[in-house]
Amino acid sequence: MSTIRDVAKLAGVSVATVSRVINQKGYISKDTEKKIKACMAKLQYSPSSVARGLAGKKTDTIALLIPDITNPFFPEIARAVEDTASSYGITTLLGNCDENGVKELRYLDILKKRYVDGIIFAEHGLTWNEIHGILGSGMPIVSLDRAALSEEVSSVRVNHYQGAVLAVEHLLSIGCRRIAHISGPNHLITSANRNRGYTDTLRNAGCFDPDLVYEGDFSMECGMRVTEQLLKENEGVDGIFTSNDLMAVGALKTLIRSGVKVPEDVALIGFDGISMTQMVEPEISTIAQPIYEIGKQAVFQLIHQIEDRHELPEMTPRVLETKLIQRATTTRF
Ligand code: RIB
Repeated sequence: MSTIRDVAKLAGVSVATVSRVINQKGYISKDTEKKIKACMAKLQYSPSSVARGLAGKKTDTIALLIPDITNPFFPEIARAVEDTASSYGITTLLGNCDENGVKELRYLDILKKRYVDGIIFAEHGLTWNEIHGILGSGMPIVSLDRAALSEEVSSVRVNHYQGAVLAVEHLLSIGCRRIAHISGPNHLITSANRNRGYTDTLRNAGCFDPDLVYEGDFSMECGMRVTEQLLKENEGVDGIFTSNDLMAVGALKTLIRSGVKVPEDVALIGFDGISMTQMVEPEISTIAQPIYEIGKQAVFQLIHQIEDRHELPEMTPRVLETKLIQRATTTRF
């Protein structure tokens, strides 16, 4: 398929000149316009949305890159992004990167060629250089949740540290003293900050035991497996804080299968606030992220960059607050 560059080369003019003909903007002589149009016909070049994109026109398309489509947190984010974008007449393309930086770069490469107007990424796989490369290309981007944070990149996330403090203080308030933590992958900013919140809170309460901290991978299977391991390796665990809700669901399955009474013997709290925590019995307490609001604010920030408009709603702080939702797994009578 011929590109705008092929037309420019054949006509012996710059891409910007061809772009002016496509968009009928700016001065161009009749002869040059005629020559360019003849070359476009010869090459059967059609100025599609790709060409409009190249000429700096908006394509009214954005992309959302997520790390794990099977984790309900991210489809809930995608729902919010898609709803908000389409309310502005913008189409959203979704890419699942599987926490794989190479896959993410492949997506980014395609997206640049497709001339999307901007990208929201929740993926963590990019290095600083790669992020700066995107910024250098002039592509508007917003980082969301766990994505690598750089001060030049607009971002929307919750206060993960404070959310973990809320979770542990809640377990302490119902009498737990031997509280285990199943963290997410340690390399992720979200897991690391929650782990710090857990550790600091228990240290301040004088009941931190590093043997009760286990690294997980945010999956339900891992929640099941690690809960079995921590119960086997430690005496007297009376509370578990998991760094996300999927692992809390896994932990609950193992606790019940092991004959442990929840919350009488072991209380349990997760993190995220996905609807799955209400689909199990007993229902799981959690630290809820304002998932829909995160997706909505990410789109507002991206549109703001694309349009550089100021009539959009004033952006709420980039760091949103979490909320404790107490349910059966931490309600002791
Ligand atoms: O459950 C997926 C986790 O990955 C969430 O806690 C979210 O914050 C992301 O970091």
